[in-house]
This record gives sequence, structure tokens and C-alpha cells, in this order.
Amino acid sequence: MAVFQHDVLVIGAGLAGMRAALAAQGEGANVGMISKVHPVRSHSNAAQGGINAALDAGDSWEEHAFDTIKGSDYLADQDSVEVLCQEAGSELIALENMGVIFNRDEAGRLGTRMFGGASKARTYFVGDITGQAILHVMYEQLMKAEGAGQTPMRIYEEWLVTSLISDGDRCLGATLLDILTGEIHAVLAKGTIIATGGFGRVYEPSTNALICTGDGMSQAWRIGAPLMDMEMVQHHPTTLKGSGVLITEGARGEGAYLLNSEGDRFMEKYAPNAMELASRDVVSRAEQTEINEGRGIDGCVLLDMRHLPEKLIQERLWQIRELGIDLAGVDVVKEPIPIQPGCHYAMGGIKTDVHGATVVPGLYAAGEVACVSVHGGNRLGANSLLDTVIFGRRSGIAATTTGRDMDVPPLPDGVIENEKQRLQELFDRPQNSDRIAQIRWDLGVSMDKNVAVFRDADGLQEQQEEIKKLKERYASVPVEDKGKVFNTDLIFALELGYLLDCAEAIVIGAIGRTESRGAQFRLDYPERNDEEWLKHILLTYTPEGIRTDYTPVTITQWAPKERTY
Ligand code: FUM
Repeated sequence: MAVFQHDVLVIGAGLAGMRAALAAQGEGANVGMISKVHPVRSHSNAAQGGINAALDAGDSWEEHAFDTIKGSDYLADQDSVEVLCQEAGSELIALENMGVIFNRDEAGRLGTRMFGGASKARTYFVGDITGQAILHVMYEQLMKAEGAGQTPMRIYEEWLVTSLISDGDRCLGATLLDILTGEIHAVLAKGTIIATGGFGRVYEPSTNALICTGDGMSQAWRIGAPLMDMEMVQHHPTTLKGSGVLITEGARGEGAYLLNSEGDRFMEKYAPNAMELASRDVVSRAEQTEINEGRGIDGCVLLDMRHLPEKLIQERLWQIRELGIDLAGVDVVKEPIPIQPGCHYAMGGIKTDVHGATVVPGLYAAGEVACVSVHGGNRLGANSLLDTVIFGRRSGIAATTTGRDMDVPPLPDGVIENEKQRLQELFDRPQNSDRIAQIRWDLGVSMDKNVAVFRDADGLQEQQEEIKKLKERYASVPVEDKGKVFNTDLIFALELGYLLDCAEAIVIGAIGRTESRGAQFRLDYPERNDEEWLKHILLTYTPEGIRTDYTPVTITQWAPKERTY
């Protein structure tokens, strides 16, 4: 057992984490970065369609901000959106300068594609592998920074944070499992930045990687950081039948249609102007309505690209062509592909300010795990990569500068021993007939049934009961593999605990919000209710139970209006 020390500890090595680490190191911090997978296997890798910025002469950050706020169904905090959109252009150029090979137009300039909910084509992209392209370049930057003799950075690769360390007042760092050896260690830091991504695997199916288990949200919640807007879970309109793998919105941006079983472009009925490029909540609900009313095909509708030139598909959408062939046996050049709405993104998360700071001193969050409230009730496609780099950078700077004159805190007595004991208890439980994987599956399937695109009081109540039962099962299921080296059974057990915390918070938020806004569509409260609900729901974990508070939405210059697409 060892105790490591850093100025800044970054947990998670996706785009938000790497950007935070680079920024902190740039400010002179000695950075530790922890990731349960190799950094370039982080889920940012799966982002396909692009990253938004209002860079064109005919565009403006205000128009980008308005589209984002309208897309959010007016739940986004407008001061945060202003930061996101004002800083987008310079951050995009910074990525380009780092070496991201964005698509170019015929004139050789950075070229864009249309994306959902956008009034202008402002999505910059690298084919349909934008996240992967940026992630690899960012990782190169980390390697370069290390080699250039700057303040050293340590990357704890394939180490899992098990809990955050708190003295009851501030966050002091984290306890860690070295996955290779099974040993527990501690890292102490002046500032800890959580960048662990979302909780998409609360649902089955999901576009999210299996590693997206809400670790950071649960860990921050357990030391007193409130979670905000947890009911706002985005279902992406085009996920592959069965597996839930993402089929990028970029396909619709390039002109693909959505068809029902009667061959109709049904979006005409739901969003006559924007059609397939309405915001995601609108398109997902339209699809689900078609399916529920009997105009689907095996629980799906069709995404049709047959009218697009094969050359365009090969140049800009090659990955989804391959995914279609490999996973569905469908070549999109020749046939429409069956898709359905699927869990994709958490708009909610750990409440932060625009510098990534949470209410717990020493604790910061950035990226999908955080809720700085730029997405509100519904995120626009291609605003998530932007969120990672803007607020990753800001949190790296804030964590460094705030801790500049502090000492690394000492380790409170017994922290490592207590954590070891907590994990040992999981091994020591008597064998029973239940399995960790079964509980996780039952959670995902029940969330998909009761808390997806459409919700109502009965389904939400049923899910609350179900989560109670799942938690009881979780409290007695043993870790079956008793080994130390690469014990994935232990990792899955810890991840299941995080998933259950997130699911509980999602359901409490969804029950509480008695209106329909963005991704929260309540069949029993079908209208948006600005009188009562222009506010965020904050959930705080306390030893006595979960406390609910509310905070108003920040409005700067865009008064809420009815949304039409
Ligand atoms: O459809 C997509 O390419 C997803 C992008 C996003 O979620 O931002």
C-alpha cells in the first residue's frame, strides 16, 4: 500500500480529463491522472459526428447559444452556455493546431456539417470518428508534454478509484485499486477533478461503453456534492437495433431520412421544418410514437441513406457503414438500417460552476459527469465534445490556481484500511444464487422499460420499487472471483454500486419533475410548466437519506418560448 501525492488529481482520461490534465500541467501543477482503462480506450472515443463552434463569418456565438438554449428546452443556465459558445471557436482552433485533422471543404477551409437542433452548419468533424481523432491527438499532447521536460505527470493506467477521500469538509484525494495487482492505495491532492464520463449503462441497451457506470457521480455524491438534473437522460434517435450501438446523427446531417413501416418520412408530422434534424428529444419521441402506434418494424424505424452518393458515405460515414455490415448485416449504401431510440447521454450530473468547482472544497468536475448546466433538458449533438474541452480546461486551471498556496493534505487515519475492509466484505459474503451481472442486467432492462423516452407516475413508482429490490440483492451478492490480479468481478461489483446510485437519483428526479421538458416527457403531465418548473432539481446524499432542493435556471438574454422545429 502506497500513498501518492499530486497538486492536481484528475480522475478519468477521456477528453475532459486529458484537457484538464494538460491545462493543469500548463499552469505548473504536478498532475496525477487515473483511468480504469488505457486513456485512448476512454468512451470519448465513441463520439462520432463532430464538435460545434460558431466560426463561420455568417454565424455567431449568440446564434450557437440560442440554439443550445432552445434545444435544452430552456433548462440550461444561460451564463454557462455563453461561456461554452464564446470559447468554442478558440478551442476548436487550438485542437486543430494540436493536430486534429478536421474535414476540409472544397476550398481547403475547415468544413462543417449540419447537426440536429442547429440553425447553421457549425459541426466540425473527422469523418464519423471525431471523438477518436481528438482523443488520440490529446493523448499525443500529454506524451509530448511529459517528454518536453515540463512538470512530470503520472498516468495511473488501469487503476480504479474506489472512493473519494474526505475529511468531512473538503475532498483530499481518492483511494485506488491497482487493477493489475489488486492492491489498494491512496492519492492525496490539493485539487481533485472528476472526469469519469456518464452513467449510460444504467440502461440496456445503450450507446455507451461498458465502462460508463457513473463512478464519479456516485463517489462525489457520497461525499456531499449534489447531483443536478439527473432526470434528464438523453435517448439518441439512431441507435442500432438490438445492440444500441451509435449510428451518428452526422448521417442525418448529410441527408439521411427516417422512414416508418409505410415508407413515410414521418418527421414531417412532428417537425415539419427541421424534419430529421429536430432536436434529439423531439426525434426520439417521434420515433417511439411511430413504433408504439404500429408503424415500426420489430420495435424499430428505418434510417435510409440509399439516396446519398456512395463516395460521400465512404468519405464521411465509413465507420457506421462498417458497423451496419458487421453488427446488423446491412450495407447502408444498399438498404435502410433499423434503428431505435437508445440511452446516450446524461445531461445531469455533479453540480459545478463554470470553473468546474463543486460545493465540496477541493473537488471539481468536468465533462459528462458534471452538470455546469449547458445542456439543460436536452443536449444538442456535437455540444458534448465541446463541453469536455471547454470545461476540462477551465477546471484544470481552477484546480491548480486555487491550490497554489496550499500544502497537499495529510491522509486521515485508517482510510486505506477501511477501504480494504469494505472490499473484503464483498469477497466474504456467502455464495448465493444471484449474480452481479444479472442484477446489472435487470437494472438496465427495467430502466429502459420505465424511465425512457416516455414516463408516467405508475412506471416511475414501479422503478423505484425495483431499485429498492435491486439494492437489497446488491447488498448480499458476493464477488465470486476471489483472486487479486485483474479481478473484473470485483470491478463489476463496484461499478454496479455506482450504477444503482445513479439510477436512484434519476428516478427521484423524474418522479419529482411533474411536467414535460426536454428528455423528461411525462405522459401524465404532458405540458412544459415554466411557472413552476423553470428550476433545477438538486439531490444531496446525507446519512439520513436523500435531500431534494431546487435552484432557479439562470436566464441572461433568452426568455423562454415555445419550441417549434
Ligand atoms: O450522433 C452522434 O454523432 C453523436 C454525437 C453527440 O452525441 O454529440
